[in-house]
Amino acid sequence: MKILVLPGDGIGKEVTAQSVKVLNTIGKHLAVELTEAPIGGAGVEAAGDPLPTATLELARKADAILFGAAGVPGDENLPYDQRPGASLLRLRKDLGLFANFRPVFLFPELIGASTLKPEVIEGLDLIILRELTGDLYFGEPRGFRTLPGGEQQGFNTMVYSESEVERIAHVAFRAARERRKKVCSVDKANVLEVMQLWRKVMTHVGAEYPDVELTHMFVDAAGMMLMRAPRQFDVMVTGNVFGDILSDCAAMLTGSIGMLPSASLAGDRKGLYEPVHGSAPDIAGKNIANPLASILSLAMMLRYSFNRADLADKIHRAVSTVMSEGYRTPDIFQPGMKKIGTAEMGDAVVEALNRLPS
Ligand code: IPM
Ligand code: MG
Repeated sequence: MKILVLPGDGIGKEVTAQSVKVLNTIGKHLAVELTEAPIGGAGVEAAGDPLPTATLELARKADAILFGAAGVPGDENLPYDQRPGASLLRLRKDLGLFANFRPVFLFPELIGASTLKPEVIEGLDLIILRELTGDLYFGEPRGFRTLPGGEQQGFNTMVYSESEVERIAHVAFRAARERRKKVCSVDKANVLEVMQLWRKVMTHVGAEYPDVELTHMFVDAAGMMLMRAPRQFDVMVTGNVFGDILSDCAAMLTGSIGMLPSASLAGDRKGLYEPVHGSAPDIAGKNIANPLASILSLAMMLRYSFNRADLADKIHRAVSTVMSEGYRTPDIFQPGMKKIGTAEMGDAVVEALNRLPS
């Protein structure tokens, strides 16, 4: 198993280091080959390019990628190709990682850490399936133009073709079959043509899965329902932009965005695994970031790319143990708990793993 580790920038470096510790513990008996490469701001420092050619080559060859975060302050003012934060987007596109799984589940021990009432989130277990290589993020034309009269205008194109919607639809229905057999497709078909097509294709593909219930919801209502009654959702499938926004909202149901892992798959076993959070420059280098989203992303890697659900479950059990023992990083801290840092949380998970019966 060739694993490429891309720590990137900011807290990406700190949290990824914890996952590597966990991998070295749990992967002791696995034939893993770990390689590390720079990306984002680190790529600019090392090779003058946020996505250095050597890094891209390694990424193409890897079976799985463990990604931290990319992005530096002031990022958005640079051209796309020089922007550290855009390196991840380029990587997703180049590797064809169109299916982004963002599972949202609650560790029962964290029920009090959410801003939502316990009765609303108890037993929460849903997946946001975000299409990751289309939509406004990649649509052409895009850019800036000068209007007659001299005013500047910025523009992007929201676009989906039938085949793009079809392939993510199949992933959604197949995922639902393994779960509670419900797909909710989120769109904005009341306003946007691109979303009318989205809904039409979803409905069409849905007919091939009569055992799965398909519903449709407008994105604004879906945002509200995530806050009001999130347990109604099983698999929520949506486009790139809506998925970006809804997954941050959904993160808060679980207490902290520091808890949310993700997997970006290309339709085969190859995948990129990363926390949903970004590089968070404001808290970088302080050993206070929560490494659990990254550690749980590693668990997703073992489950999806290496077919080792047993090891993924083990990581979950270790995280549960650490939670029930009261260890918390600041983002999920509550009075009465033991506040610890990033590295200590990594160590605590490793220790809990070593204590688990094999
Ligand atoms: C995410 C992030 C990225 C995105 C950024 C860092 C480009 O917010 O993975 O949700 O917008 O896709
Ligand atoms: Mg996001």
